[in-house]
Amino acid sequence: MNKHDLVQKAAEAMQKAYVPYSNFSVGAAVMTSSGHIYTGCNIENAAYPVTCCAERVAIFKAISEGFTDFKQLAVIANTERPVPPCGSCRQVMSEFFAPETEILLANGNKDVTALKMEELLPYSFEANDMSHET
Ligand code: THU
Repeated sequence: MNKHDLVQKAAEAMQKAYVPYSNFSVGAAVMTSSGHIYTGCNIENAAYPVTCCAERVAIFKAISEGFTDFKQLAVIANTERPVPPCGSCRQVMSEFFAPETEILLANGNKDVTALKMEELLPYSFEANDMSHET
């Protein structure tokens, strides 16, 4: 599976978005280190903050099936620029992704910007910060 294929999986998942409030569909696909693919779409709720982003749905599906090592994630929306993941999703990604894990951001034309985890969320808060209190 190449970059384009993972973006394509994310685009297919985007079709499943449940977005009656924003009408803004997002799709995501994550590849585990063993090559399994999990997809996600954003799922909104009448109680707006309960909404879950596409990236987290994909990651949580994989985690709940026992996969915790990831190679790559793709996210897509019909935006002009390749869609930037929200801060909460970046934090969830940083919990599970290595600094060099590749994140593919795509737009409505399927233009892709590839960033490493450490570029998407530099200086992130992590477990180590709690075990080295001064
Ligand atoms: N959304 C995502 O699915 N991923 C992001 O990284 C940004 C925002 C969704 C949440 C909500 O359903 C809609 O986009 C508008 O914020």
